[in-house]
Order: sequence, then structure tokens, then C-alpha cells
Amino acid sequence: MNDAAAETVTRRQPGTIKLHGPEAFEGMRKAGRLTAEALDMIAGLVKPGVTTDAIDRAAFEFAMDHGAYPATLYYRGYPRSCCTSINEVVCHGIPNEKPLKEGDIVNIDVTLIVDGWHGDSSRMYAVGEIKPFAMRLLAITHESLERGIAAARPGATTGHIGEAIQRYAESERCSVVRDFCGHGLGRLFHDEPNILHYGRAGEGVELRPGMFFTIEPMINLGRPQVKIKNDGWTAVTRDRSLSAQFEHTIGITETGCEVFTRSPKGLDFPSRPSAPLT
Ligand code: MF3
Ligand code: CO
Ligand code: CO
Repeated sequence: MNDAAAETVTRRQPGTIKLHGPEAFEGMRKAGRLTAEALDMIAGLVKPGVTTDAIDRAAFEFAMDHGAYPATLYYRGYPRSCCTSINEVVCHGIPNEKPLKEGDIVNIDVTLIVDGWHGDSSRMYAVGEIKPFAMRLLAITHESLERGIAAARPGATTGHIGEAIQRYAESERCSVVRDFCGHGLGRLFHDEPNILHYGRAGEGVELRPGMFFTIEPMINLGRPQVKIKNDGWTAVTRDRSLSAQFEHTIGITETGCEVFTRSPKGLDFPSRPSAPLT
């Protein structure tokens, strides 16, 4: 296909993506902050012997106590207030009565609706002491998200974000999951645009001030392929390799982006190693 045709394919329908104003930014700041505070609260709960059901109940109570609603609860039939994805689970793990055990890595993904606005964020938590290769995956996944955020600014495309993430993760000999992506959000939970965590600068849609979306790379130690378990939700790596994910909700500003879901306590990477990894 020629360049003009490629342009119409790669920059299609930018008009359908909502551009939000100052009041919407204010709404997203509140929703994002409360979501971050829920994940901060959860940092104090994650330890060996605790069930993911107990964490889920705490997330529900936190929402109720703060005038929020957990967006995942009854969303398309999903039964819980958060997702808890352990070890080889890529995403959408359903909280249950099984206790966490020493050495597990778990992603906890919370989406809170505050005054109609959605804050969507997830972090990886270490359960007790974890193996160096597991900690390395968490550090690479967290850095992948930060590189994606750093690429998000007006004039760049969604492809710039994907390329920044893919380049870095693959340079560290990890793989990027293709089956799930980040998403526009605001008054809706999942909206345009799709934010792929791989690709090339210039692909996708051009970023403009007022766009709201998540970046939520899923990075595997092994191969990128996933399969869905019989519960219809739980996505696991086909090769059973470890998988990790971090997620933030951001808004494009005139000069770059604003991250709505930063931890007020500096716990965006709660088990961040204190010494550099070797
Ligand atoms: N919070 C997830 C996301 O980042 C979506 C979970 S949908 C559910 O988009 F139904 F699985 F909970
Ligand atoms: Co999301
Ligand atoms: Co999420």
C-alpha cells in the first residue's frame, strides 16, 4: 500500500476519541488518587497466608467507605472488586480462598469509579521474599510502563508508546503480551483508543491534549502467548512462564502527560529493590 493509504489506515478515526477539558481532569485526579490509595492500603495486606478473597473484600470496603464503586464488580459478568493475577497468570485472575504463599508475585488491579470517572491502576506485589529472576521481571515491567509514560505527549502516536515498551522489554530478553492492551477511559471503563504495548513510532493514532487512557504492559519471562482458563477470565502464559504487569491511568496535557494514579506514598512499585539488580 502507498504512503497516503497507510496514513488513512494508521491514523483512522481520530475524531471518535474524546478530548476532555479541565473539569474532566479534575474528576480523573480524584478517581485516580483514590485508586492509588486503595493500592497503597493493599500493600499492607499482601503477605504469605492471606487469601486474595480477603484482599478483594478490603478493596470493596475501601470503595464503599470512600463513596466509590469498584468498576469490575459485575462488569460483563466479572464477579469481584479487583483482579488478582499470581505468577503465570497474565491478567484477570479472580480472587479466591487460596492463600498467597512465600515467593509468589501477584498483580492487583483496581478500578474505582468516583463521581462517574474511572481510575484504573495495577501494581505487582512480592509475597515475602521472592527469587532474583522474579524481582528482575518486576523491575523490567515497571520500567517498561515508565518508558511508555515518558513517550506519551501531544504529537506522538500510540505507536511511540508501544515501541518504547517493546524495545526496552525485548532488550532485556522478555516478551510483550499481544492479546491485551491499554484503553481509553473516562466516564466509560473501556473506550477508544487501544494502547498497544508493542509497535512502531508513527503507527496508531496521534495523541492530543485531553485524551485519557491507560498504559498497562504485561511482560513475560518466556514466550508472549496466552490462553484463557475455563472460568472464562483467567489468562495464563501458554508456557507457564512468569508474567508481570503494572498499570497507570494518564491524561495527555499540552506538554506531556499527567499520571492520575501515582501513589501519594511513593508505593507505585511497592517491592522495589533497595539495591540495584545485578
Ligand atoms: N482493570 C482491568 C483493566 O486494566 C480490566 C478488568 S475487567 C474485569 O482494563 F472484568 F476483568 F475485571
Ligand atoms: Co485497564
Ligand atoms: Co486495570
